[in-house]
Amino acid sequence: MVKAGLEDVVATDSSICFLDGKEGRLVYQGYDIHDLAKFSTFEETVFLLWYGRLPTRTELDGLNKELRSNRNISDDVVKMMRLLPKTADPMEVLRTAVSMLGILDPDDKQNDRAANIRKATRLTAQFPTIIAYWDHIRNGREPIKPSDEGTLAANLLFMLTGSQPDEYNAHVMDVALILHADHELNASTFAARVAAGTLTDMHSAIVAAIGALKGPLHGGANQEVIKMLLEIGSPEKVESYITQAFKEHKKIMGFGHRVYKTEDPRAWHLRQMSEELGRRANELKWYEMSRQIEGMVFKDKSLYCNVDFYSASVYYMLGIPVDLFTPIFAVSRVSGWTAHILEQYSNNRLIRPRAEYVGPSKLAYEQIEQRSKTALLG
Ligand code: CMC
Repeated sequence: MVKAGLEDVVATDSSICFLDGKEGRLVYQGYDIHDLAKFSTFEETVFLLWYGRLPTRTELDGLNKELRSNRNISDDVVKMMRLLPKTADPMEVLRTAVSMLGILDPDDKQNDRAANIRKATRLTAQFPTIIAYWDHIRNGREPIKPSDEGTLAANLLFMLTGSQPDEYNAHVMDVALILHADHELNASTFAARVAAGTLTDMHSAIVAAIGALKGPLHGGANQEVIKMLLEIGSPEKVESYITQAFKEHKKIMGFGHRVYKTEDPRAWHLRQMSEELGRRANELKWYEMSRQIEGMVFKDKSLYCNVDFYSASVYYMLGIPVDLFTPIFAVSRVSGWTAHILEQYSNNRLIRPRAEYVGPSKLAYEQIEQRSKTALLG
């Protein structure tokens, strides 16, 4: 039998991201995530993922200019979004908008590297606009147009809240985007590479990735974490809630990981930022509840929290609506997806694994009149 979930199966060579599950290390193109979180910016990280090296000042200025000037989305996409049911899941809206942007893309029929870098730039610039526009449209408000200055992180918060974020909040958003940018062959990146391996276009591969990220075992976990914290409500209720969840053999969202057998290095930064945001807002209860849950899950299950656990309280304290948490993950991860698609195209071979057949064999074909009901049910 094949190991379920392709656990530990190495499916490709890649120079984009190194993950050491035993040591808890995450490295983008040779640079440790702790250094990038401390010294880099999301835009610089995007350059690193696409080009395999850190940019010069001129190169970074160039990418910043391109990202800023591509923030707008076509009026036709906005019209289409206005036609969607207001109750639509924002990840479904993102998936649909990206699909339409693919049809309208000026490089739609081009699949060379230069065209794909332009597509990757437009997609990375447009994700925040799609998500913020949708939040306004579904709530009956006029969307706030993207600013043509500032970082992608600050502009995202500006478009969502209508006011410029303070320096610390913009920094927190920027670091969260760096931390989520890539993670080797996670489910959505694998989906993107499988699609790109057929030499389909970049937008189609990104649509596949968005569909995979949406699931609660992947990017959807951050929303489930905040729902749990809101349901618990206060630190004194944590113990009984988690004890009951253990009794019912429920999974605690934001814990466990297929690769990390120690602390997820991204969780360290998000934990610090969750505490600091709580301190600044004089509302430490989300952080305190999270700490308690972390202690209980480790004691009972020896499981560490993953990136989704503290990103939940961080996004909540930044004022982001709960069902936009997973789309915010996508705002960052689109940089990694596009990097992997570029890498896949650069040395492509169709991805087409095999299945171990475990079904019946050599059955005699019976005409439909001869098939008994019991045989069919049985
Ligand atoms: N709470 C309680 N028990 C857990 C959890 C959890 N969060 N995660 C794993 N376990 C237990 C699980 O019940 C199983 O126990 P047993 O062997 O007794 O049946 C054992 O640990 C192995 O779990 P698994 O589900 O087979 O492990 P996996 O490698 O297939 O899944 C995972 C990894 C991340 C899907 C899983 O840990 C999980 O469902 N976690 C909760 C969802 C979550 O936080 N997802 C975000 C993942 S990180 C960011 C991302 O990729 O998007």
